Amino acid sequence: MSRIKNTDGKLGLPYGTFPTGWFQLAWSDEIQSGQAVPLTRFAEELVAFRGASGELHVFDAYCPHFGAHLGYGGCVEGDEIVCPFHHWRFGPDGRVVDIPYSKRRRTANRLRAWSIVEVEGIVWVWHDALGRSPLWDPPPAKLVGRSVYPGRRLRYDDLRMHPQMMVENACDATHFKAVHRARVGPEVVTFDTQGPIFRHELAWPSGGQMRNELYGVGIAYGHWEGVFSDMGGACGWYAVTPVTDETCTFFIEEWVERRPDDPPTPPPGAQRYYDAQGTQSLPDQVIWAHMRWTPTPSLTPEEAPIFHALHKWAKQFYPTDDTERPARSSAAANAGADRAGVA
Ligand code: FES
Ligand SMILES: [Fe+2]
Repeated sequence: MSRIKNTDGKLGLPYGTFPTGWFQLAWSDEIQSGQAVPLTRFAEELVAFRGASGELHVFDAYCPHFGAHLGYGGCVEGDEIVCPFHHWRFGPDGRVVDIPYSKRRRTANRLRAWSIVEVEGIVWVWHDALGRSPLWDPPPAKLVGRSVYPGRRLRYDDLRMHPQMMVENACDATHFKAVHRARVGPEVVTFDTQGPIFRHELAWPSGGQMRNELYGVGIAYGHWEGVFSDMGGACGWYAVTPVTDETCTFFIEEWVERRPDDPPTPPPGAQRYYDAQGTQSLPDQVIWAHMRWTPTPSLTPEEAPIFHALHKWAKQFYPTDDTERPARSSAAANAGADRAGVA
């Protein structure tokens, strides 16, 4: 079970934990078959490895024997990983399956296996400070049956921010003029919540629209229409994942839609879109790095409805002392081979 972290210090968030939910661990192709990759997420050291079957596994990194980090020199054999220090071998559920030099071939010690799902080239990982198994489904596939040009990825590491800042930013209609230099700002058209999902739509007088679906506070799916006249719509995943107590990685992957009459290569508008979007989050990042999150902001009448709804919705992602904890047996199960259903 994760320790409950105190993340309420310098960033000003009033919550004592990293948020609960699905987050982006990595892109799938960053972890190739036979590779063991060290990762830091949620201030925990992890090792991700892809076995011969192609299945991805994510474990706590430190070997229960003498504490070697399996991401540095750990060897993937079949669907098992071998510790570099004394060659203890761990199976796909994190259990010790062999101790090569001992008559004791197994031990009750095991590596915690994290719940992961791979969807359209993204690895979603479940995090809960209380060690609860996934409480809701991971974000679904979005590109099935759609025609899009090759996507474009951006990644920003070591950002001093908190995931909630990203989802608040997505709802913040009034910052588009100030921060993103929009000639005219959008208005909030609709918003609603459905369990861990928050949907909202912003619209510009010019006809442009942005529809967002927030899957917890770590992941946003955005859909744009009417950005440039010579391109179709565009969509993308925007994901912020805690790395240390104060820093996150921001993953962005976007696609421009290819309409039936569009050429096989992306029209100029698509490149202009990628260029424009490529710099859009930079001024946000400067503000996030230096701001102090304010639990009771001075909201104007225009801002109040969506931000009140968003803050109320976001509370579910932060366990408190009153949150029911998993029974010991289910916590132990979560520490083992528990895996989420595949979307
Ligand atoms: S530290 Fe891993 S086998 Fe000894
Ligand atoms: Fe922004």
